Amino acid sequence: MVQSELTVHDIIEKIATFTNDPVPQITRLVYQESWTQAQDYLLGLAQKLGMDVAIDEMGNGILTIKGTKEGAVTLGSHIDSVVNAGKYDGVYGVAAAIVSVKELVEQYGQPTYDLQVLIFSEEEGSRFPMNFSGSLNVIDALPDIKQLQDREGFSFIEEREKALAPLKAKFPIGKAQMPISFAEIHIEQGPVLEIKQKQIGLVTGIVAQKKFTVTINGEANHAGTTPMSMRKDAFKHAIQLITYLENVAQQIGEPFVYTVGEIQLSPNVVNVIPGKAVFSIDVRHINAEVLDDFEEKLQAYVAKQETMIIVERWLNEPSEKMDEGFLSLLEEICHDKNSSYEKMASGAGHDTQVMNLVTKTALLFVPSRNGISHSPYEYTTAEDLERGKEILKEFIYRLAY
Ligand code: GLV
Ligand code: MN
Ligand code: MN
Repeated sequence: MVQSELTVHDIIEKIATFTNDPVPQITRLVYQESWTQAQDYLLGLAQKLGMDVAIDEMGNGILTIKGTKEGAVTLGSHIDSVVNAGKYDGVYGVAAAIVSVKELVEQYGQPTYDLQVLIFSEEEGSRFPMNFSGSLNVIDALPDIKQLQDREGFSFIEEREKALAPLKAKFPIGKAQMPISFAEIHIEQGPVLEIKQKQIGLVTGIVAQKKFTVTINGEANHAGTTPMSMRKDAFKHAIQLITYLENVAQQIGEPFVYTVGEIQLSPNVVNVIPGKAVFSIDVRHINAEVLDDFEEKLQAYVAKQETMIIVERWLNEPSEKMDEGFLSLLEEICHDKNSSYEKMASGAGHDTQVMNLVTKTALLFVPSRNGISHSPYEYTTAEDLERGKEILKEFIYRLAY
């Protein structure tokens, strides 16, 4: 181990320089050049720190410190971002994992079980219509990706091969071990810890999610000459459906959340009636049945329309519960370290929910200033980053040594 002064904050600042946009706006979508640069940097750093380093066929980074017994105590998070993101989402969990492992080996030497850090290639689903392709590959549950394309029509497989070529030239290809446990630390991305003035969030469960793409086909025509009664305005139908669903959301009530975050009109021209509208729907609740009810209402509305509306559901994630034994252990560690904590559900999706399908998991949060995330204004103090890492490190120590 060479770099003794390495901090979580330093790694986050370095990874923030790998972005398509000027800092502090971070855009690093999976398999873009900025993504390859970030993964290359982290794998190189881990090598310098004495870890065994490999990538799998999706570009997940696999960093290992060998233990004396079979089994991998695993930790990690993702390095892709949303468009116009902040510095911390995902990257904090990767940085905290690397620093924790480095410090554990410096302090306690070889572990009993392997320490395995996973740098997941993709979690956000912000380039291709698929979330969690990195962690799904680790647990051997990746759906068919042959036809997958981004908005510009670039193929997932071709983009992946281009992005991985320079990494494959430098690092061996490997496969992550199925873990005996998984832990992730993440920024909260919401206001709860700040409002309650708590230092650590201990996540009890992660919400269920559905995501849809809705396509409405009307008819493009002249904005000046087509009477209102004769129009087939795709945008008007989109607004009606979006508003109807907003009312459904209000009726369901909090903590249900409903978001239309993306819409494309075509031809998207000032004096042409929109011939086509395509928009996204993202809905979440801790109880998956609430999402099923929402989907039924959406389908019933669509079935009644004369206009052609195509609803494609491309994500259907159940809710997941984190391990209760791990939660108790984390409470004990927070007490020992005089850190205040709050047990809470996560409204954001995390790689932990995928890993939870194959192993016992733990998910920890640190506060997000003003509860802001998926934005360049995302911010967590260096002190909070450090405190979270210390709790994670102690947790991993108790499992792996
Ligand atoms: C990921 O950050 C998500 O919850 O959308
Ligand atoms: Mn994240
Ligand atoms: Mn995110």
